[in-house]
Amino acid sequence: MRPPSKPRALLLPAYAKINLGLEVLGARQDGYHELRTLFQTIELHDDVVVRPRARGLAVRCDHPDVPRDEGNLALRAALELQRYAGVGKGAEIAITKRIPVGGGLGGGSSDAAAVLMGLDHLWGVGLGPAGLQPLARRLGADVPFFLVGGTALGLARGDEVYPLRRQVRGHTLIVDLGRPVSTAAVFARVDRSLTPRENSHTIFRFVSSDLEGLRAFPILSNELERAALEEAPDLADRVGRIRGILIRGGAALALLSGSGSSFFGLFEDGRQAQGAQSALVAAGFIVLRARTVSLDQYRRAWSRSLRARRARGVGNQSRSRHHGDHRRQGHSGRGRKAEGLRIDRV
Ligand code: C5P
Repeated sequence: MRPPSKPRALLLPAYAKINLGLEVLGARQDGYHELRTLFQTIELHDDVVVRPRARGLAVRCDHPDVPRDEGNLALRAALELQRYAGVGKGAEIAITKRIPVGGGLGGGSSDAAAVLMGLDHLWGVGLGPAGLQPLARRLGADVPFFLVGGTALGLARGDEVYPLRRQVRGHTLIVDLGRPVSTAAVFARVDRSLTPRENSHTIFRFVSSDLEGLRAFPILSNELERAALEEAPDLADRVGRIRGILIRGGAALALLSGSGSSFFGLFEDGRQAQGAQSALVAAGFIVLRARTVSLDQYRRAWSRSLRARRARGVGNQSRSRHHGDHRRQGHSGRGRKAEGLRIDRV
């Protein structure tokens, strides 16, 4: 008789997001804000390894600012699933961080979504991305998006997510300002100047128009930016300089992501992105370059990870096999052909 096969460990890429546009329509009864936002996943990602064990949950992470207790959203995701599905089994979660912490790039939420997907599979719960949505919503407003990925519209608290038929493909530069900003504090500031309204202006136009390529982007903005810079006034000068370099370098869009503090530029042309990256580094900024990840690429990454056989040594590696293309300045990338900024229909 063959010995029973060992429980598998899974390695999942937890991609970062940027908000290509974000509008705040008003304050809600539940203390949150009614949003219209355009989410976009990018290749920059954490690595999340989930490994089943007999009982108990534990999380470890290589980043000193990430908590190991229930303050860790990835651990809370595992607990939620355990309770929801009445699972007696436990798991170990190991996170290798690359997404800046507290940067408005959704790193913690993405890690949590990866844990939901991984343990749903390993524990044999079988809810899948649609069945996991209610759990994701309880964990945080950004978590449901990471069960979808690609280019998607976020409504309500940002947690009602619809993938868009038009998927954005391009190159992004992410400038890490290394200065976490509290999302709750930024939203509280928004309230002081908020005029409630029924509908969005620009995101509706973007989603419903036939605009293609570069022409589609200049109408988008981030309505959290002013409040974020009031909350962190020390960033205002740097943000002004970064925006100038990105726009002069050919960015179709240059915005703060979410409530900050990461700032991004979106480019059609990979060489232009590279040029702007060099200019930003020369000006003293820390810059990551990453392509966008579309809905189909995101789904393929999930299914590759969930199909993967027990990966030996998983959790000891510092780089994922899935997408290693995001890079800091100085690392020459594999010489892939520039794809340009396209909006594809899916
Ligand atoms: O859901 P999450 O924990 O990520 O949200 C962090 C904080 O951001 C919330 O506590 C709330 O203050 C604020 N927020 C909001 N409206 C949203 C999303 C977040 O006011 N739509």
